Amino acid sequence: MRYEDMMKQGKMIFGGLSAMSRELQKEDWQGVHYTILLDENTFQNCLPTLVSQVDSLQEAEFIEVPVGEECKSLEVAAQVWQTLLENGADRHSVIVNLGGGAVCDLGGFVAAGFKRGIRYINVPTTLLAMVDAAIGGKTAVDFGGVKNSIGHFYPSSMTVIEPVFLQTLPQEEVLNGMFEMVKTALVSDAALYNRLLTGVNIKSSDIKEIARIKSRVVKADPYDNSIRKILNFGHTFGHAIETYSQMPHGVAVGIGMSVAMYLSVKKLGLSGEVYHSYSKWLKERVTLPKYTLKNIEQMLPLMYQDKKNAAGDLRCVLLQEVGAAVIDVCVLDNEVRDAFLKLAQ
Ligand SMILES: NC(=O)c1ccc[n+]([C@@H]2O[C@H](COP(=O)([O-])OP(=O)(O)OC[C@H]3O[C@@H](n4cnc5c(N)ncnc54)[C@H](O)[C@@H]3O)[C@@H](O)[C@H]2O)c1
Ligand SMILES: [Zn+2]
Repeated sequence: MRYEDMMKQGKMIFGGLSAMSRELQKEDWQGVHYTILLDENTFQNCLPTLVSQVDSLQEAEFIEVPVGEECKSLEVAAQVWQTLLENGADRHSVIVNLGGGAVCDLGGFVAAGFKRGIRYINVPTTLLAMVDAAIGGKTAVDFGGVKNSIGHFYPSSMTVIEPVFLQTLPQEEVLNGMFEMVKTALVSDAALYNRLLTGVNIKSSDIKEIARIKSRVVKADPYDNSIRKILNFGHTFGHAIETYSQMPHGVAVGIGMSVAMYLSVKKLGLSGEVYHSYSKWLKERVTLPKYTLKNIEQMLPLMYQDKKNAAGDLRCVLLQEVGAAVIDVCVLDNEVRDAFLKLAQ
C-alpha cells in the first residue's frame, strides 16, 4: 500500500483506552500477536492501566527499551527485532508503542523494517507525543551522531489519545509538550491559541483539538513538501538553540518561536502586541538565554544545517497573523542577529 493511502487509513482514536479496546475487537484485529514496546517509566506508570482497560492486550508480550533518546538507535532496534523473532512474531504481528516520542519513533522504525513492514499502534504517554510525535508517520533512529538520520515515512495504523497518562508525567515534560501545542495553535487557530495562553490548566479537549489539527495537516501533505511545513514554526531557531544551549526540544522551540515572531513583526506585519504577549507568557515559564553576537555567529551555521532550508538561503516559517503562517520566507543573517539580540531585552 502506498504511504499516502496508509496515512489516510491510519485511525486517530480520541475516546481513549475504552475506544481503543472496542476498536481492537473488530475483525481487522482478530488473532493478532501484540508486542508492547515501553520503557522503565511507562512500564511502571502506564502499562497497568493499558492492559487493564484493553482486553485484547492482556496476553501481549512486552519489550522494555532504554529511557528517552537512548532507545533511538540501530542497536536497540536490532535487539527489538531479535526479541520479536524469538517470540515468534510474524508479518501479522502488531507493535504497540506505549511511551513518549522516543518509544513511538523507535517502534515505528522497528515496525517499518520487520518482515517488510508490520502494523503498529501509537499510544503516546507524554504531552509532546500526544500532540506531535505520535502523529504523522515520521519514524526514525539517530545514527552517526545525527538525530533522526535513519528512518521512514511509515504511519501507525492507529493512534490513541488518552490524556489520563499525563497524571504521572513530570512537570518539565508537560512544559515541553505545551510549547508544541502553542506552536500548532499559533499557525492554525487564533481562538485556540488565545485559550492556551490564558488557560491555567491544559484541557483534554485542547490536547485532542491540537492532535486533530496535526492529523489533518499531515494527511494533506504527508511528505512535508508544502502545508506540513507550517508545523516547523520556531524550529529553525529552536533546533539551533536546542543544540547550542543544550536545552530540551520543546523549551528551545518555545524560545525559537519568540525569535520567529519578532521576525514576523518586522517582515510580515504581525502585530507587535502578539509578539509582546507571547514573550511575556514565555518569560513566565523559561529563563531566556542572553546571547551575544559571538554566540549568534556560532549558532547561524546550525540554522543553515536545518534540513528544512532550501540550498543557500535561510528560509523559515513566519506568521502574518495568528492562524496564518507563511512558509519558505527568506531571512537574512542580520535580521536573525537582530531578533536573537532582542531575546535578552
Ligand atoms: N516523529 C515525529 O514526528 C516527532 C515529532 C516530534 C518529536 N519527535 C521525537 O520525540 C522524542 C521526544 O519525545 P518526548 O518529548 O515525548 O520525550 P521521551 O519520549 O524521551 O519521554 C520523556 C520522558 O518521559 C517519560 N515518560 C513518558 N511517559 C510518561 C508518563 N506517562 N509518566 C511518567 N513518565 C513518562 C519517558 O520515560 C522519558 O523519561 C524525540 O526523540 C524527538 O525526536 C518525533
Ligand atoms: Zn518540535
